[in-house]
Amino acid sequence: MNGRLIVFEGVEGCGKTTQLQRSQEWLQSLFVAKSLSGSLVTTREPGGTQLGLGLRELLLNAEVRNGGADATKEEMKFSQPGPLTELLLYAADRAQHVEEVLKPQLAAGAIILCDRYTNSTIAYQGYGRGFSLDLIDQLNFIATGGLESDLTLWLDVDVEVGLERTKTRGVVDRIEQAGLEFHERVQQGYTQLAKAQPQQIVRIDANLSAAAVQEQIQQILVQRLTEWGLG
Ligand SMILES: Nc1ncnc2c1ncn2[C@@H]1O[C@H](COP(=O)(O)OP(=O)(O)O)[C@@H](O)[C@H]1O
Ligand SMILES: [Mg+2]
Repeated sequence: MNGRLIVFEGVEGCGKTTQLQRSQEWLQSLFVAKSLSGSLVTTREPGGTQLGLGLRELLLNAEVRNGGADATKEEMKFSQPGPLTELLLYAADRAQHVEEVLKPQLAAGAIILCDRYTNSTIAYQGYGRGFSLDLIDQLNFIATGGLESDLTLWLDVDVEVGLERTKTRGVVDRIEQAGLEFHERVQQGYTQLAKAQPQQIVRIDANLSAAAVQEQIQQILVQRLTEWGLG
């Protein structure tokens, strides 16, 4: 039996991690109520594998790695992955994740909830950093072997609202520290993607309360599960 890959996407603080967790709990109880036997897997990029955890650390925690706030500007500069290195590290993380987690779990019939996937690279490294979208499509294809999500939930939040939310988390990672204009370009990327692929990418209004966002997600999931014969 073939499983399904459901991806949560959107800018920092849109609520991916919160909503993925809530969706997992809701789906779990739905599976129990309907006596469905398939397994439910939650995972993320970067960092969905042991190797990926190391890559995630390299990608996001440059400051921590370098002695925290005491690091000099010069030390910080050399600890940061450059844009091309960043692009390739994300691709490496994805390649490992697809082989080690996504493909085998889908082959075993799992429903996978994944925090970020290929569209993040298009939005962040394409629209955000300015790499050619053709190049990114090729790289995504190499990393995934063409494995696409069955459904992508785009949590569409105002960039400033999202960034404000992440501040309450305490630790601000390397990508979150990038300027507002960068995040606006990323948002533009998601907007374009959703416009181009309305069947695959469903927009969720993520400015609302976490409960209201979860309600929208559940409505979409009910529809899709029915289409997939799992409802
Ligand atoms: N709808 C919401 N309204 C207000 N705060 C939220 C909402 N969803 C999430 N949060 C809070 O905002 C912060 C970022 O949410 P998170 O789920 O970690 O976002 P992401 O994983 O997309 O970066 C967390 O502190 C979370 O508790
Ligand atoms: Mg998150």
